[in-house]
Amino acid sequence: NYLRHVESLAVLPSGAGKISHLNAVILGEALASEENDLVFPSEEFSRQALVPSPMKYMEMYRRSIEDPAGFWSEIASEFYWKQKWGTTVYSENLDVRKGPIKIEWFKGGITNICYNALDRNIEAGNGDKIAIYWEGNDLGQDGSLTYSSLLEKVCQLANYLKDIGVRKGDAVVIYLPMLMELPIAMLACARIGAIHSVVFAGFSADSLAQRIVDCKPKAVITCNAVRRGPKVIHLKDIVDDALAESAKSGVSVDVCLTYENQSAMNRHDTKWQKGRDIWWQDTIPEYPTTCEIEWVDAEDPLFLLYTSGSTGKPKGVLHTTGGYMIYTATTFKYAFDYKPPDIYWCTADCGWITGHSYVTYGPLLNGATVIVFEGVPSYPDPGRCWNIVDKYKVTLFYTAPTLVRSLMREGDEYVTRYSRKSLRVLGSVGEPINPSAWRWFFNIVGDSRCPISDTWWQTETGGFLITPLPGAWPQKPGSATFPFFGVQPVIVDEKGAEIEGECSGYLCIKSSWPGAFRTLYGDHERYETTYFKPFPGYYFSGDGCSRDKDGYHWLTGRVDDVINVSGHRIGTAEVESALVSHPQCAEAAVVGVEHEVKGQGIYAFVTLVDGVPYSEELRKSLTLAVRKQFHCQIGPFAAPDKIHWAPGLPKTRSGKIMRRILRKIASRQLDELGDTSTLADPNVVDQLIALSDC
Ligand code: WTA
Repeated sequence: NYLRHVESLAVLPSGAGKISHLNAVILGEALASEENDLVFPSEEFSRQALVPSPMKYMEMYRRSIEDPAGFWSEIASEFYWKQKWGTTVYSENLDVRKGPIKIEWFKGGITNICYNALDRNIEAGNGDKIAIYWEGNDLGQDGSLTYSSLLEKVCQLANYLKDIGVRKGDAVVIYLPMLMELPIAMLACARIGAIHSVVFAGFSADSLAQRIVDCKPKAVITCNAVRRGPKVIHLKDIVDDALAESAKSGVSVDVCLTYENQSAMNRHDTKWQKGRDIWWQDTIPEYPTTCEIEWVDAEDPLFLLYTSGSTGKPKGVLHTTGGYMIYTATTFKYAFDYKPPDIYWCTADCGWITGHSYVTYGPLLNGATVIVFEGVPSYPDPGRCWNIVDKYKVTLFYTAPTLVRSLMREGDEYVTRYSRKSLRVLGSVGEPINPSAWRWFFNIVGDSRCPISDTWWQTETGGFLITPLPGAWPQKPGSATFPFFGVQPVIVDEKGAEIEGECSGYLCIKSSWPGAFRTLYGDHERYETTYFKPFPGYYFSGDGCSRDKDGYHWLTGRVDDVINVSGHRIGTAEVESALVSHPQCAEAAVVGVEHEVKGQGIYAFVTLVDGVPYSEELRKSLTLAVRKQFHCQIGPFAAPDKIHWAPGLPKTRSGKIMRRILRKIASRQLDELGDTSTLADPNVVDQLIALSDC
């Protein structure tokens, strides 16, 4: 049955029979329809793959679990360490019952991630290899840097930062769009042991100020403006506002290094605060092109990155140097089956973790050629991605399901008018990829040739935890498949008991992996409470997951109060607090609803101050309040898709909002409201339903 099923697959590539025979042994008989939907790598692909078969994966995986210290230290030895770590490769406590949570990898090892990404590759003879191809917002705008020239630019900036007093352990906030200067700034910080905190250059002045106040940077690095599609966004104005705002909280920043992005805005039109603001182009090129390395401990902090949680304040996820370095490099190599001639493009912005681990560090540590794209995929038309793929002969293309779905709606001709012959492996991240988007990505974009690595991971995990290794396993559209080396996913029930075999529940991880975050900046207690207390003994991901009969993992989305909109994490509490900051809003409750393109949309129930009438104008001004809190013009993904007027909210007698009921009302599953008798006032449910279409 199993083999017959496999043979009947439309996408079955020639030669798959041989591989399917191997898989059949391991997988046994598959069952239900999605679970049965196996897509095999071609024999040709598998033959050249780093991990060419399930057997090889099993062998490596087993070793990584049975002997993590040996497995990871062997890999780490391929990198440069000024001084090797001590006898203990890693030490950990993931169990709150046994004391404070602590994770350390390669402690005592002295290294530098910038050295390993640049100098080491140059010394290996790759100085003239292209490190970064930069593609601007407009067609025909481009540039590139070899490994040697990238190093020179990094050194110049690093020298400048040292000159203005940035020292090891100091924070630097980077608020830049996808210019080459963004990875340059990250690497320059890393070179001198400074902690970078990149803030997505789309966040509002308020969000930027909040992050500045939290980490008190020595400097902010930005640019005057950026073009995104047809729009111009004045980033420097946003930074000015943020700096004024943070000064009110007692955090003043002495230096605002500003890159003049001439294609977007002339320097003469840029507002300027003498003494504080410095033009990048006038200053940085004056500095020497070599810069001594600040050697750091593997456990010294590398960067901070803020992410949304289920409560109001964003969390400063802290990653350290050594483990993160080894983990991003290794996951990049295996999940994309990376080989030196590859040209790699990840569409993520460096403002998110994907841009940290898989635009900057993972690829550059492997000596790869990376594309940095400033623009948007829909400009000048929805064929832009494939235009870029053909222009640079991209072999590895990594993107998000929301982009796949939005391009899918534009029609195949935008894709098929380009060759895309160079593509070898596709990748997906950010949210579960629905099987129909998977199919389109596979069949149309990849011409049914390229395996898709559906990588499951998080800001907190630093790198992939569950991901296909193209070439090893047959894939099931919509499943992130199997754990990466060294990762032990467990599915637990409500009480925290591990469930075996075919099951579904809460996704946790047993034991640490090198890329795990070490704390939440300045709030270790919140770190323990959020991630380690819900299910003692495990790291809790916040995601639901099921495992099928063949051991494949199917992520089912967040189980906490976090909504995933276009692959971006939005805490419901953050949106609610933005709404109630509006003078006419008395109370708000936000839930996620299914959305065709964005994956999830934001659905807000809003109770107005007594006597205020509903109006379209008010709806707009509430939406604006949320947009202002989160973002300026770029990707206003935090704006509510629907505002539902609510004379009252369904609450328990103790005053807790019953979101379960709100989710059902939002998704119009009115016959599944369940028991409403415990509500303080069951009538509010009828009122809400009556106002559904207002
Ligand atoms: C979701 C992004 C299913 C998940 C790297 C996780 C995914 C959150 C996938 C982390 C995937 C990410 N399949 N869900 N392949 N990748 N997610 O921190 O809910 O921005 O918890 O990191 O995105 O989002 P974050």
